[in-house]
Amino acid sequence: MFETDFLTPTHGAAYRDAVAKAVDTLLAALPSRSYSGKSADELAVLLESKILPTNGTGIEEGLNRLRPLIANSIVLTHPNTIAHLHCPPLIASLAAEVIVSALNQSMDSFDQAPAATVLELAMSRWLCDEAGLPAGSDAIFTSGATQSNFMGLLLARDFCISSRWQWSVQRRGLPPQANRLRFLCSDVAHFTVEKSAAQLGLGTDAVIKVRVDDDYRMIPGELAKSLRRLKDNDLIPAAIVGTAGTTDFGSIDPLAEIASLAREAGAWLHVDAAYGSALLLSRRHRDLLRGFDQADFPNLVNKSLSTTRRFDALKLWLSFQVLGREKFGQMVDRTIGLAAHAAAFIRNSPALELLHNPQYGCVVFRYRPARDSDSDALNSALRQKLFERGVAVIGHTRVRGRQCLKFTCMNPATSEKEIEDLLRQIVEQGRVIEN
Ligand SMILES: Cc1ncc(COP(=O)(O)O)c(C=O)c1O
Repeated sequence: MFETDFLTPTHGAAYRDAVAKAVDTLLAALPSRSYSGKSADELAVLLESKILPTNGTGIEEGLNRLRPLIANSIVLTHPNTIAHLHCPPLIASLAAEVIVSALNQSMDSFDQAPAATVLELAMSRWLCDEAGLPAGSDAIFTSGATQSNFMGLLLARDFCISSRWQWSVQRRGLPPQANRLRFLCSDVAHFTVEKSAAQLGLGTDAVIKVRVDDDYRMIPGELAKSLRRLKDNDLIPAAIVGTAGTTDFGSIDPLAEIASLAREAGAWLHVDAAYGSALLLSRRHRDLLRGFDQADFPNLVNKSLSTTRRFDALKLWLSFQVLGREKFGQMVDRTIGLAAHAAAFIRNSPALELLHNPQYGCVVFRYRPARDSDSDALNSALRQKLFERGVAVIGHTRVRGRQCLKFTCMNPATSEKEIEDLLRQIVEQGRVIEN
């Protein structure tokens, strides 16, 4: 009585039908706006349901019940959805997702994922080579950059402690001297550096923030000063974290200079390239990652923090096959071009203020009130109004105590005109609130 509920070669038709129905439901319910504007309370009422019905509904009705969820999701392909590092998925990757979920290989051991293991290993090797890492280097697919940062800093901590004091943290826990270890990163590095320090038993006080320049890149001279101060105080720089593509500004730290200071100080170099690694595929902008190849990454016996793991590498593999290198690079370049276009428009708009010269796809700016008013509250209200009215999903961040707006250009299909229209709408909305 259960056999028709699982995918076997003889149940291909039922599977194809279910996937087709899912895609049809999705496309029919996808809203045309970036967001419906509904509040959390309104959504709770709309989505109220019996979580586990006594008897199932069948696929058609089950999918029907998803309509309000789809209709009240953020539409990532809408040109006015431009808030976060949150990209619209490629169609090739969606197709791969169907296969990844159906095969449900488990990436922890060969006998649970033979062909997938071989393909993922080949991709890991290719990624190391592409990044210019040396022959002994290795890679693993993680769930995201929170895990990658944690893993990099875990390796740095354990390497530092074992090389200085011949002490195995894995076996003996942290030695008493571990309270001398420090991680250094820029003022605008991702908060997961501090989170990792907390989780690694060093505490967030072990993170030293290094000042950034006007375009939010770590200043090597300031890093050198921080390293000297640590030395004078008998503290140990266990790791330096360079960021290739900061969350708010897309800024790329001067990795080559940071790498040579790390080497001099005997510190591990970790690069958070959650955003910036895509630049490897850009012919025009790849140079921004100069020094990336000097990041530390050793062989691991047990390579992942996870045990069972999805075969996400397939999504990247299929997208690479379908699109090819040239097109991937052009898509990255296009998002950079859109950010540059937005920045130029903002520079020429008296009602807007640009906070940096974008290097990558992020643009941080402010609405400048015509009259003397609380500009922080006005910028917040402006963004909220556009969200609630379903006009746009734009980002916000605090920079040096001031409330700012943010575009993160992740959609190469957006046009320059759409960017300009959105900026005009922002100005209009600002004026409406002011009056
Ligand atoms: C620079 C940077 N590092 C790390 C992270 C965390 O990544 P994830 O959400 O994939 O864990 C982010 C998230 O936006 C990020 O921008």
